Amino acid sequence: MYFSYSGNTREMAQIAKCRTGSDICELVSPEPLPQDLHTLHDNVVDSKLFPKEKMAPLPLPFDPDKYAVFIIGSPLWLGTYPDFFIAYLESIDWRGRKVFPFVSFGGTRGSYYTKIKEICKGASVDLPCEMHSTPYPGEARRFEVWLDKINSFTGNIK
Ligand SMILES: Cc1cc2nc3c(=O)[nH]c(=O)nc-3n(C[C@H](O)[C@H](O)[C@H](O)COP(=O)(O)O)c2cc1C
Repeated sequence: MYFSYSGNTREMAQIAKCRTGSDICELVSPEPLPQDLHTLHDNVVDSKLFPKEKMAPLPLPFDPDKYAVFIIGSPLWLGTYPDFFIAYLESIDWRGRKVFPFVSFGGTRGSYYTKIKEICKGASVDLPCEMHSTPYPGEARRFEVWLDKINSFTGNIK
């Protein structure tokens, strides 16, 4: 499952689906996001500087109890996950599950990995794959190698 604002994470999620044979689900913001990048950026900065009430968990558009292994992709916003994405993740009872996180980012990682391990309490959270939004040579291959680790885990060896 993934969220993507400008398409980079969506592209990675499609590659992940094809290479691992997984189901795929795009999670969207419950409130429409501004189309203008600067407005979005300002809104996200505002919400960090002046946090409102914590969002209640958001129900997922699929039944998470059908799955034991989750590949979770998101862009990094101010070094972490968008608030509504966290709210989706918090609707799952993570105990006994396996999580493979990947992120798309522009150059500053922040504390997202600590955050996802905290959210997915009781799950085994694997090392993340961090893909720079600038497509450096070898990045695509690095992602494929990471996805093949998932295939080894699930036994889905081609
Ligand atoms: C509001 C906002 C905040 C961002 N904050 C960060 C950040 O803290 N660190 C970073 O490396 N990139 C940051 N970026 C860049 C995105 O993570 C990057 O462009 C990513 O590839 C976008 O993925 P997407 O196309 O799937 O939305 C930010 C982008 C936006 C829109």
